[in-house]
Amino acid sequence: MKLDKLNKLEQIQAAEARLLLSTYDRNPILFVRGEGVHIIDEQGERYLDLLSGIGVNALGYAHPAIEEAIAKQSRALIHTSNLYYHEGQAELALRLTERTGLDRVFFSNTGTEAWEGALKLARAHAGLLRSEGKQIGTKFLALEQSFHGRTFGSMSTTYKAKYREPFAPVVPGVEFVRFNDVADLRAKFSNEVCAILVETIQGEGGIRPLTQEFFAEARALASSTGALLIADEIQCGMGRTGKWCTYQHYDIQPDVTTLAKPLAGGIPLGAIVCTEEAARAIHAGMHGTTFGGGPLACAVAIAVIDTLEKDHLLAHVTEVGNYFLAQLRALALRHNAIVDVRGRGLMIAAELDSADLAKLVVAEMLKRHILINCTSDTVLRFLPPYILERAHVDTAVAALDEIFTEHAAHCGTQTAAYAATQAAGGNNNG
Ligand SMILES: Cc1ncc(COP(=O)(O)O)c(C=O)c1O
Repeated sequence: MKLDKLNKLEQIQAAEARLLLSTYDRNPILFVRGEGVHIIDEQGERYLDLLSGIGVNALGYAHPAIEEAIAKQSRALIHTSNLYYHEGQAELALRLTERTGLDRVFFSNTGTEAWEGALKLARAHAGLLRSEGKQIGTKFLALEQSFHGRTFGSMSTTYKAKYREPFAPVVPGVEFVRFNDVADLRAKFSNEVCAILVETIQGEGGIRPLTQEFFAEARALASSTGALLIADEIQCGMGRTGKWCTYQHYDIQPDVTTLAKPLAGGIPLGAIVCTEEAARAIHAGMHGTTFGGGPLACAVAIAVIDTLEKDHLLAHVTEVGNYFLAQLRALALRHNAIVDVRGRGLMIAAELDSADLAKLVVAEMLKRHILINCTSDTVLRFLPPYILERAHVDTAVAALDEIFTEHAAHCGTQTAAYAATQAAGGNNNG
């Protein structure tokens, strides 16, 4: 296929419509490069990216540390398979175990693949405990509104029917617990359960943090039988909320966590990180991958972690995130269409009172060259690069202010709903 310079986007759209599975409903923009927090289309138009490729491009675009790591490693060695050693896996695993407080790592390519591996680990661990005389079953407790990915195990532990039903029958043995409902968790937990599955802050589910009480109860129940507590930090981990892992804000240690999205700054890489106890269940040949943990991805992930540390970016995430939250809360005081503002660090949501309005706001922001998206129908989601500055926040909040003002028919000017939520203590932990 040869593309004319003119109408390149239209030609690509037509070709994709004919050649690709129609899984994606893309925005009609053709991006060709990026710089810092901006991504640039074929016409040279710059967009402020507050979504960072759905939480991936933590260091933004064209970061010199990533460019250098890719260039250097690509000249040396890109792929070996896991039949042989290379220099990157142990070095990266050391960084991850030190920062997560866990003991052992398995590298995958994507988030869903890390989650699949974690589910297999939980089943294998329960099998090991049974072989040692313990009474423990094979059931998973997942949470309502959860999202863990698109492969079979991940999809089966994902709540929304629309993700599961077309592919039924799904993996059996999954029960859903009402989000943050301690009584429901207690009622559904038994020694039939091999693992309790949580996202520390639900991402696709609308940026909803676990409560301290619920997370602590999940920890206590799992410990009481030997079941594993598995925290999916694919979206909220690796510094997104100002700590390496969001569970560290709670001071609760899971048995297993899964990481992916920002781990290698845009190069596909995922990881399962677990305790020595959980790792006892896995032996050579039980699990594996051709590509996972390859030299290139590991070298880039090491560069990402070292840059986050060298440039004090976790503290920066906290500082700019708090500023962003404060600005959005101030905005909510002026526009009652915003019914809640919540989040931690640079994982932030503004919930609106209508799905139509949320769609319109995303489209209007796009017209103003600012990328955000909408999740859970009514929730505007912000997952910007960690290098975001206050000035970018000001630009985004001014654009939102303008949009809410222009569409005042949808959005009132007083904040009864928001003020009431805040008076009641809010439903956020940011
Ligand atoms: C919490 C969580 N888990 C798992 C996944 C799946 O990751 P991937 O799309 O890399 O397979 C996602 C993706 O959005 C996620 O947000």
